[in-house]
Amino acid sequence: MSKSKLFSPVSIGGMTLKNRIVIAPMCQYSAEDGKMTDWHLIHLGMLANSGAGILTIEATAVTPEGRISYGDVGLYSDECEAAMHRTLEGVRRWSDMPIAIQLGHAGRKASSDLPWKGGGQIAPGAVNGWKTEAPSAVPFKAEYDAPAALDRDGLKRIRTAFADAARRAARLDLDAVQIHGAHGYLLHQFLSPLSNQRTDEYGGSLENRMRFPLEVFESVREAFSQSPVTMRVSATDWAPGGWDVEQTIAFAHALEKRGCDAMHVSSGGLAVDQQIAVGPNYQVPFARQIKAAVEIPVIAVGLITEFEQAEAIVSTGDADLVAVARAILYDPRWPWHAAAHFGETVQAADQYLRCQPRQFRNLFG
Ligand SMILES: Cc1cc2nc3c(=O)[nH]c(=O)nc-3n(C[C@H](O)[C@H](O)[C@H](O)COP(=O)(O)O)c2cc1C
Repeated sequence: MSKSKLFSPVSIGGMTLKNRIVIAPMCQYSAEDGKMTDWHLIHLGMLANSGAGILTIEATAVTPEGRISYGDVGLYSDECEAAMHRTLEGVRRWSDMPIAIQLGHAGRKASSDLPWKGGGQIAPGAVNGWKTEAPSAVPFKAEYDAPAALDRDGLKRIRTAFADAARRAARLDLDAVQIHGAHGYLLHQFLSPLSNQRTDEYGGSLENRMRFPLEVFESVREAFSQSPVTMRVSATDWAPGGWDVEQTIAFAHALEKRGCDAMHVSSGGLAVDQQIAVGPNYQVPFARQIKAAVEIPVIAVGLITEFEQAEAIVSTGDADLVAVARAILYDPRWPWHAAAHFGETVQAADQYLRCQPRQFRNLFG
């Protein structure tokens, strides 16, 4: 049987992953004042025993106002860092899977309710709500409270917060940092002309719209100098006049020049009127286009749910790695099952070894 590409090792920066399955970042809305709780120990512990190549911790806010919701994880205080330390200590005791963290700021999409409570904006002044901030005073939805447009001091404060969080990530010995530049959150809000209507050097031309995200990248790169720093992007807004794949390619080039170690290619989330034709592989063509333009590894994501589908993406060279989100929540042993399908192996906890179907017969033998 020919070897599976999905289960071949791959390097991101100086880090080698055992296989090409990435667990995508997934908010759990279960933190308290930005601090991880036992839910994170259960959830990340489960995923860290899945056999994937790397686990990405959910969107983690660099300031309290940068949280999507009041239940988001943060890495902006000693208390947040201590809670994450406790979680990581527990997870790492039982798994050696590399762990990345996604650092982000929600901008105008902050101060939202939990998804299972509707997910709408909580007005500033209401319980669990606060005033949001963004490149321009343009709300995500017309009926939402408009964000405050960031001034020069605000930009500096957020840049510094990204760097401080990256330093905390280094102290926590995290294996990689992914910067959240996708899904309509703050950095994407700077990139897209639909949300960035500034008239200073941070708005207008593509070069100006990329300026703040690139400054943030440089600050994080410097603060997390020993390990990989990657960027997650939305390759398009799926809306007329918005961010698109050509601009994403220019952004990817600029990032690569500055030492970015990989591009993680998603889409959408910025415009309420986005028109997305969602289906299996729907974002893979964007990953392919970006991969054709850069040397660094590219990660594809979005409705990659089947083993042969994932194998085809990496073996045809559309992307170097695949990220899986919902499918691995549904089946937390997805990589085990993929490995079994291809006749490959993944590392599994000793405690679970007797569960392999071929050993069912001789439990006490
Ligand atoms: C519960 C849940 C939470 C998510 N949280 C994040 C997040 O924190 N950061 C992010 O960039 N994307 C987040 N996403 C998007 C996923 O990372 C992924 O891009 C998306 O679900 C598409 O992949 P899938 O089809 O494999 O689920 C989340 C998705 C889900 C289902």
